[in-house]
Amino acid sequence: MEREELAQLTRELRRRVEQSHESEWGVAAAVLPAPIKAPSSGASKEAKLEALAVRIRACRQCSLGSTRLNAVPGVGSADARVMFIGEGPGFDEDHKGEPFVGKSGQLLDKILESIGLSRQTVYIANVVKCHPMKDPADPEARGNDRPPEPPELAACRPFLDEQIGVIAPEIIVTLGAVAAKALLGDGISITRIRGQWREYTPAGGAPVKLLPTFHPAALLRDPNLKKDVWTDMKNLKKELEPK
Ligand code: URA
Repeated sequence: MEREELAQLTRELRRRVEQSHESEWGVAAAVLPAPIKAPSSGASKEAKLEALAVRIRACRQCSLGSTRLNAVPGVGSADARVMFIGEGPGFDEDHKGEPFVGKSGQLLDKILESIGLSRQTVYIANVVKCHPMKDPADPEARGNDRPPEPPELAACRPFLDEQIGVIAPEIIVTLGAVAAKALLGDGISITRIRGQWREYTPAGGAPVKLLPTFHPAALLRDPNLKKDVWTDMKNLKKELEPK
């Protein structure tokens, strides 16, 4: 096609689009997601969390949003007194859209049970909501996980802060080095600070007590770490008892 012919076609196309009405754009309207409505300030905590989950599922702020199978907003009670925060979804979580459902999740369930808690009574989330993969082209491969990169953590932080703001937990428990560093700063060492009470203040919110402990995956690799997590869970239970 000659250059002039192409330019003429482009002009004609632009004219038609400019003069058309959006009701004629049947295909475009069908592929566009429905506009996301913000819940009213009087909405229930559950409604606010669900609205947040809708935004998380629609998020493309970083590349993980385009490569993951399912976003993984979080699971549990909107009235939870404790929030457990992990690193990010892996293979199983990406396939199910729920945090901690693989081997680490089964161990986390047992840890919760040991102090009378469950995934229904606490809230479980991650510092990033989409699966960070070494090879993003292959979400069906196991062992394709990698830790989230700083821009991915930064893009997801507002979602985590909003979840904390809505739930308003009394205590946050971070699981592993990545979550602890994300909330307390890169300078910390998980082996040094685990079990020590700290504080995290979400953007626009109030400070929340924070207890860093090891990630369940670390306990699967090194069962010697179990006794430290057990100590931390006993301290958590004590902190939750009426004073
Ligand atoms: N590890 C995490 O940190 N989060 C999950 O959801 C699963 C495994």
